[in-house]
Amino acid sequence: MKKSLFFTLFLLLLTGLALAQTGLKKRRPLPHEYGRVELNNFSEKAGRAPVVFDHWLHRAKFTCRLCHVDIGFAMQAGSTGIAAADNERGYYCGACHNGRTSFAACSTKDQPATGTCDRCHSAGKKVTRHYDFRAFTEKLPRGRFGNGIDWEQAEAEGSITPVDFLAGVSIKREALTPQKDFDLTAKVAGMPEIIFSHQKHTVWNGCELCHPEIFLGVKKGKTQYSMTEIYEGKYCGVCHSSVAFPLIDCQRCHIKPVR
Ligand code: HEC
Ligand code: HEC
Ligand code: HEC
Ligand code: HEC
Ligand code: HEC
Ligand code: HEC
Repeated sequence: MKKSLFFTLFLLLLTGLALAQTGLKKRRPLPHEYGRVELNNFSEKAGRAPVVFDHWLHRAKFTCRLCHVDIGFAMQAGSTGIAAADNERGYYCGACHNGRTSFAACSTKDQPATGTCDRCHSAGKKVTRHYDFRAFTEKLPRGRFGNGIDWEQAEAEGSITPVDFLAGVSIKREALTPQKDFDLTAKVAGMPEIIFSHQKHTVWNGCELCHPEIFLGVKKGKTQYSMTEIYEGKYCGVCHSSVAFPLIDCQRCHIKPVR
């Protein structure tokens, strides 16, 4: 009974979505493409290939919080407006790609295209990557969708240890105690409940990535949102549509684990 209700809701939701998206079904990104961002505010105009940024490699090494709070990247592709001069001065990509933490980013002095430039300015080019997705992720626990990796598990078992601090950029702070895990009861009867884990989210996101911009969150239940809004890329959908496991993985949220 419950299962069939869930399925009906699922179909309704998908139909609504298909209509909302002009009826065209988009190709699902391949595992290595999931979380990829292409940046081209300035590159092609300046005669360079657009920049390709992959979340899978960077999130294996650093927390979301470090980049999106301390370094200050926006959580919407293209909206930070990173320019070559920013990188050269040590902001944005240049916070790490400075020739010390990692290979150097842009130079605004007129320079011949070097292989190093092409490592980032790589869209549409045949650039050999130093990190091969398959080799890099071979030993990581499998997930069903997105990158095909269970990132949660990878972190828990210590296969990856994302760094949360960058000297000269981050400040030392006391860790706040995460709130207890809580249920988010869906508004529709028969819908499996959602367990939201503050503990697990804080590992990657700290507190500031969600509060106050995504969830005002001073009191549970204050922020009202629906699955449709999540699908539109709001609330949980800010991350769970492009970088964290995607929304087609219904059961990963709509489940109450047995204790
Ligand atoms: C090494 C830095 C770095 C790390 C680590 C990182 N991000 Fe990002 N993220 C970026 C950059 C750069 C962009 C693109 C920003 C822009 O174009 O203005 C981005 C964009 C995004 C977007 C928007 C994507 C889109 O298609 O619009 C989301 C959502 C996001 N990140 C979530 C996350 C989450 C969740 C994590 C942790 C699992 C994470 N990021 C880890 C640098 C990072
Ligand atoms: C928090 C630090 C950090 C930030 C910020 C960062 N990166 Fe990286 N990036 C790294 C590290 C570490 C590596 C691994 C390379 C290495 O070992 O030197 C890397 C690797 C890469 C690679 C190489 C992939 C390959 O397989 O050859 C590309 C491309 C790249 N980053 C692009 C970017 C772009 C574009 C930005 C900004 C939008 C950015 N990164 C921001 C730390 C960072
Ligand atoms: C670590 C990644 C990275 C590397 C390496 C890199 N760039 Fe960039 N570069 C960027 C990003 C990100 C942008 C902004 C992309 C956009 O929106 O067009 C950019 C933009 C530019 C632009 C556009 C003009 C402007 O003012 O923003 C030029 C020109 C440029 N880079 C030159 C270079 C040169 C020359 C090299 C090699 C010496 C280089 N870049 C290497 C990341 C990189
Ligand atoms: C991934 C996003 C996310 C992160 C990260 C996060 N929170 Fe929350 N927080 C939520 C959501 C969702 C709610 C419930 C909001 C609602 O229902 O209005 C919430 C609610 C709260 C509440 C109200 C709880 C209640 O019982 O009324 C507090 C307090 C809170 N968060 C503190 C924190 C602190 C402290 C951290 C860091 C340790 C943190 N949050 C990290 C998403 C997040
Ligand atoms: C700021 C980004 C962000 C937001 C907003 C966010 N998440 Fe997550 N969530 C993550 C990341 C990162 C992970 C780690 C797993 C991954 O990347 O696939 C995760 C993992 C999870 C997990 C698996 C871990 C566990 O508890 O078993 C669940 C379930 C989940 N999120 C539900 C939610 C729900 C429900 C909301 C909205 C109330 C939400 N998330 C909002 C980033 C986010
Ligand atoms: C990232 C976590 C997450 C994933 C994945 C997810 N949901 Fe939800 N869903 C939620 C949250 C949170 C709510 C509760 C909103 C509320 O009522 O407060 C919700 C509510 C709902 C509702 C109740 C009606 C409404 O609009 O609020 C339905 C139906 C639903 N989801 C269906 C689905 C289906 C079908 C899938 C898979 C295609 C799915 N959800 C995947 C988090 C998720």
